[in-house]
Amino acid sequence: MANPVHIMERYEPGSGLKRALSQSRQDVIRTVRESGIKGRGGAGFPTAVKWNLCAVVQSEKKFLVCNADEGEPGTFKDRLLLAERTDALFDGITIGGYAIGAKLGVIYLRAEYAYMRPGIEAKLAERRAHGLLGENILNSGFDFNIEVRMGAGAYVCGEETALIESLEGNRGEPRNRPPYPVNTGLVGAPTSVNNVETLIACAHILAKGPEWFRKFGTEASTGTKLLSISGDCKKPGVYEVPWGISVADVIDICGGQGAKAVQVGGASGRTVPAEQFQRKLGFEDLATGGSVIVIGPQRDMLDVAENFLDFFVEESCGQCTPCREGNPKLLEGVHLLKHGKCSIGYLRELQGLGRTMQAASKCGLGQSSANTFLDITEHFRSEILGRVSGKGE
Ligand SMILES: Cc1cc2nc3c(=O)[nH]c(=O)nc-3n(C[C@H](O)[C@H](O)[C@H](O)COP(=O)(O)O)c2cc1C
Ligand code: SF4
Repeated sequence: MANPVHIMERYEPGSGLKRALSQSRQDVIRTVRESGIKGRGGAGFPTAVKWNLCAVVQSEKKFLVCNADEGEPGTFKDRLLLAERTDALFDGITIGGYAIGAKLGVIYLRAEYAYMRPGIEAKLAERRAHGLLGENILNSGFDFNIEVRMGAGAYVCGEETALIESLEGNRGEPRNRPPYPVNTGLVGAPTSVNNVETLIACAHILAKGPEWFRKFGTEASTGTKLLSISGDCKKPGVYEVPWGISVADVIDICGGQGAKAVQVGGASGRTVPAEQFQRKLGFEDLATGGSVIVIGPQRDMLDVAENFLDFFVEESCGQCTPCREGNPKLLEGVHLLKHGKCSIGYLRELQGLGRTMQAASKCGLGQSSANTFLDITEHFRSEILGRVSGKGE
């Protein structure tokens, strides 16, 4: 059985930052590139590529935004990092700011984490007092500050362009892309949006070197990943595991033996049935921002689909038709199935609608909200087909 690891536990405050400020911006980005790190927020975009795209744009103003919105159902690892790994996080934000040429970093903090704000602000003040923020940081000539801004409780505001709209005081609705935030982000300036865990990992990479980081994980998914594990298991919590770990090993670690399925990646992720538990977590197969929900044998998979679709109906911003209209239709379909009123023919139409939503929705919310419905109706056919009405199409 694989065991959890703890490579990102110990961090000497300021160590990664000192190393970064003693190098050129290009060398910092090169180190991050050599580590192979990809974003921990879910999409898995290479961090060095994002920083470089931002760094090469000529602009008076640039911003490094730390995405601490953590709205994906079943995810709570950033909460722990914000509370207990603040030094590494502030170093990571400052390193990212230095690499792209920003003077301001913004932490976009989930509304539900408002209780953490005073503690975070107090630690920022301490850093200013110790010369780790403000003018001429560590006598390097680099000026940088970090501000905290609050979200207002909308899941879609975790999507980076909706987040930027929200920061600008507008309705939190995703923008058309391109242009991408690295060119036209906050107040039109080049902006790199990075997840909390990504930035902390970058501080460790600068402190300990890219080779150290590459020792963990796989070729395409280097390093470790924090998982927020919940659901039908004996030991829920936050675990650090190397990328490439199998779903079966994750179940062993958290005491979820006997599960009929595991939801990898939250409500917008994938529903993995027991016969596929040898599949591996990583960008090659099951990418995840960190949410792992164990689904025990007693669960009705239609309840699972209903629960997630309820969430998406509530959280869709309503801007585009496939997502605004599609999610309520899928939810209605689940209700019909539960009451034995959905025919096989209508079920197929709903599956077609789900695929259209994946292809035609404007942002990641609508592109992924049908995943669970499609996975459940495909992998739990006998459970679902036993409940379709009649034999007619
Ligand atoms: C609906 C939706 C919600 C998202 N929520 C979050 C979130 O809470 N935290 C996060 O880091 N990324 C979230 N993302 C991904 C961000 O758009 C973005 O890719 C990420 O912050 C980039 O950081 P990374 O490169 O470090 O992963 C969300 C995406 C979508 C489509
Ligand atoms: S996919 Fe959904 S959340 Fe995203 S822009 Fe369209 S309606 Fe809004």
